[in-house]
Amino acid sequence: MYSPSAHRDEQAPISMPERRSFLAVVLAAASGLVTAALAIPLMRFTTFPLRDSAETASWSDVGKIDEFNSLKEPLARVIDVKRVEGWRSSVVQNGVYVVPTGSGGLKVLSSVCPHLGCAVRWIDKQDKFICPCHGGTFTSTGVHVSGPPLRAMDELESKIENGILRVRFQYFRQLDAKKELVG
Ligand code: FES
Repeated sequence: MYSPSAHRDEQAPISMPERRSFLAVVLAAASGLVTAALAIPLMRFTTFPLRDSAETASWSDVGKIDEFNSLKEPLARVIDVKRVEGWRSSVVQNGVYVVPTGSGGLKVLSSVCPHLGCAVRWIDKQDKFICPCHGGTFTSTGVHVSGPPLRAMDELESKIENGILRVRFQYFRQLDAKKELVG
């Protein structure tokens, strides 16, 4: 007598569905590995300019070192900074202060207020830096004196190269007592 289940059993062994699901798992795992293998280099490739800009901010010329040798108080300078965003690069201008340290040395401070990012101004008549936004004040070397900023003005990495004072302009986290690089 004809029995559908008996016929199906002869054509398709009981182990077939299990074998199929096992193969499906193996194929899915292999496909996942291939996707991951392709995605990792792709991620590195596409994010390279971002990582590069964060890790290796460009250097900008501030001026000939001779111009700053007899400096007695902070001097404002506008510098050209090359920014890399994705695959596009552009040049933006930023303000810095060249500051005599008192021992014959110099340091360069960012004009970006560590409170909320306004441009801090040097007021020579009052012998201090004042932020016009919320009244934060700093000494002539950038030490925080009063007002809402939680830390000193941010010193930028600088060096003298072939008689030129150069600076690496970077941004630091605002509203934070600790100086922490953000780009
Ligand atoms: Fe400078 Fe607020 S932004 S004190």
